[in-house]
Amino acid sequence: MSVSLLAQNLTGSEIIKIAGEINELKKQGQNIANLTIGDFDSNIYPIPEELKVGIVEAYHQNQTNYPPADGVLDLRESVSGFIKERYGLDYSPSEILISGGSRPLIYSTYLALVDPGDKVIFPIPSWNNNHYCNLTRAEEVLITTTPENNFMPTAEQIAPHVKGATLLALCSPQNPTGTMFTREALEAICDLVIAENKSRAAGEKPLYILYDQMYSQLTFGSHQHFNPVSLRPELKDYTIFVDGASKCLAATGVRVGWGFGPAEVVNHMKAIVGHMGAWAPKAEQVAMAKYLIQTDKLNAYLANFKGRVQTSLTALYEGIKQLQSEGFAVDAIEPMGAIYLTIKLDFTGKTTPEGTVLNNSTDVNFYLIKNAGVALVPFSAFGTGHEVNWFRASVGTITPEEIQQMIPRIREALSKLK
Ligand SMILES: Cc1ncc(COP(=O)(O)O)c(C=O)c1O
Repeated sequence: MSVSLLAQNLTGSEIIKIAGEINELKKQGQNIANLTIGDFDSNIYPIPEELKVGIVEAYHQNQTNYPPADGVLDLRESVSGFIKERYGLDYSPSEILISGGSRPLIYSTYLALVDPGDKVIFPIPSWNNNHYCNLTRAEEVLITTTPENNFMPTAEQIAPHVKGATLLALCSPQNPTGTMFTREALEAICDLVIAENKSRAAGEKPLYILYDQMYSQLTFGSHQHFNPVSLRPELKDYTIFVDGASKCLAATGVRVGWGFGPAEVVNHMKAIVGHMGAWAPKAEQVAMAKYLIQTDKLNAYLANFKGRVQTSLTALYEGIKQLQSEGFAVDAIEPMGAIYLTIKLDFTGKTTPEGTVLNNSTDVNFYLIKNAGVALVPFSAFGTGHEVNWFRASVGTITPEEIQQMIPRIREALSKLK
């Protein structure tokens, strides 16, 4: 082998494999509703107009040189105001780090805190923690979540594992489930971390929380977003927030993320992001700084955007519930936040009209792709076993009309399974 052990151990995304299958069928002229990628069709969900204009303007003003390593000061100031206004969180610009989208924030949190062999606790299903553990050679501590708890990890499940752990990676609203922590559930986890850190000797590495709230502006109905530091201010020294524009402004290709936490940790993250050169483009930073302070415009954009995402998620949820009421072995969890719906398709072991047995969730998914023109992602792509018959549906690249059209196709395909 001519590549490093690390490179050999890195696995590609299962979602990319599904995308390959979809593209193949599309080439053959099939119409597939692609609910696989956690992205937006920017013609259905464009970024805010003022942001778009601001980016173009910034290029006209030649904002094309290196940005400061921790991000343009104006943007860090705007983010400081944004998180104060939205969550009541007090972070000064020096405790905020800007990066090229939010992935570098997650990776640099891992690199700044986790040594090889350190324990990192995270739920399954969850998004990409397995890859970051792999990259940092951390020891994975997996919390297998359950539908009864909306696939969110609980304090009770985490408690046996906190001794000696370095990082607890949490996400709410959660990718892939679109579900969220309740106040009580998150408080119980916070208290666990506080108690664990009190029990550690001076000089011992504490247990940190990586709190990914990328979807915090996309919450529906009465579901409210909570964070560890607002609930338990003493966790400020131990919490690193991951946040950014990719999801809440449908700006996945704009690449502006912001993280915040204790200056001591954020300064190390800044050095790591700097060495990777994973800054956000300067023109985008300049424009984002100006956009985030236009509160009225931002609120109007979010209200419209959120409403449309919710309409799609609700249409899909109701469609699946309708199938359930007709006797199909399907289920769904009420959408709470993000752009995802959690769907159960209990068809493992069934036989297709061609006589093929569907052995696991991957088989069920490919059956639906070929026979209903609908592509989901099995939770196995997010770390669960292939026997788990729950799936993620992402609504960012389809319209509510397309969702309505897809339900009869699912009904027909599932009714052919014996
Ligand atoms: C929970 C969560 N965190 C972080 C990210 C990374 O976002 P970005 O595209 O800004 O790197 C994603 C993207 O899918 C996500 O779902």
